[in-house]
Amino acid sequence: MAAAAAAARSPLLFLMVMLIAAMMPPPAAEAHVQIGAYNKTCPQAEEVVLKEMTAIVAKSPELAGAVLRLFSVDCFVGGCEASILLDSTANNTAEKDAPLNRGVRGYEVVDAIKAKLDAACPGVVSCADTLALAARDSIRLTKGPFIPLPTGRRDGNRSVAADVALNSPPPGATIADIIALFANKFNLTAKDVAVLSGAHTIGKARCSTVSPRLYNFGGQNGSSDPTLDANYTDILRGQCKPGDIATLVDLDPTTPAVFDADYYTLVAGKRGLLSTDAALLLDPTTSAYVAGQANATSSDQFFADFATSFVAMSKLGALTHHKGEIRQVCSKVNPPSSPSSNAAARSYHLTATAGLAIATLAVALVL
Ligand code: HEM
Repeated sequence: MAAAAAAARSPLLFLMVMLIAAMMPPPAAEAHVQIGAYNKTCPQAEEVVLKEMTAIVAKSPELAGAVLRLFSVDCFVGGCEASILLDSTANNTAEKDAPLNRGVRGYEVVDAIKAKLDAACPGVVSCADTLALAARDSIRLTKGPFIPLPTGRRDGNRSVAADVALNSPPPGATIADIIALFANKFNLTAKDVAVLSGAHTIGKARCSTVSPRLYNFGGQNGSSDPTLDANYTDILRGQCKPGDIATLVDLDPTTPAVFDADYYTLVAGKRGLLSTDAALLLDPTTSAYVAGQANATSSDQFFADFATSFVAMSKLGALTHHKGEIRQVCSKVNPPSSPSSNAAARSYHLTATAGLAIATLAVALVL
């Protein structure tokens, strides 16, 4: 009330206060993703994503795993802000061209879905949310849980290859390295490590990833990783011949296209494909989780745990409100003059608030 009276007495002061407020960022408490963020602006968004993902996975089932991984590598480097989708430019090598991301695939899926979303609601849904929802749907389309997912992420404009190694477990990472990385960089727990690794119940890895466990392990001619079941090693040697870097092998050969808790039975039986899967047995928390799920009679607990950890991962570094932009093309930041670019959004914010201040001043003068 006192502020309103002061404003009426001194409209110029009020105008200055409004202009300063316009230049300040929104309070941190506002910066949240939320369930149904597109309910008003694009109510059919989640339906459009599901319909397109259903068609894509029906045609190419292996893309479910590809998209799920694409989302995780986005979130772990700079947050879930679609930085993985940006192309390198003349002056910058982007995340997607970092050596650790060489096997990442599924970019075309996001482009196809974004095109459908833009046809339904032009310029409304971000690439970050397109990817997040597509990853969420890849889980349900492979018979995993339906996970209600908060949306409202906007797209970032930083994608630097050097950031990838700083935020990813390096090849040969120990379980202690992974748990420390998750705790220190992402505020995620050892349980989250065990639960999210369960995503390896679908999808594939390249022979270049697997072969170090199969041949000349530890630099010794003819030896293989002793933590890998010997019969499974023989099967994998049949799939990944020496020198083959490109062939893809199933992470979960028992039920490769089904999102279930079977992964933990494999890991417990020394049949986890990646060395980081096998490493889950070397920490008390993660090994207890593996044992619990390997002996579970249903996937229910794993599904509930996965939903919790997946939502936590999906919130990492999310950009909301006037931060970031809604990219027109997922592989490129918007040109500076476009309506949804960072600069344009800021200038819109300023113009709108200044307009409001001028209108208020006019009313105050009339009164
Ligand atoms: C604990 C940390 C993790 C490590 C060290 C890790 C490592 C890997 C590696 C090395 C591959 C195979 C890549 C290749 O050979 O091309 C892979 C594939 C995959 N990862 Fe992970 N991952 C981790 C966490 C996650 C998370 C959090 C998710 C999702 C929630 C995920 C989902 C997948 C999927 C679905 C694939 C198969 C991709 C495809 O089919 O193209 N991973 N991961």
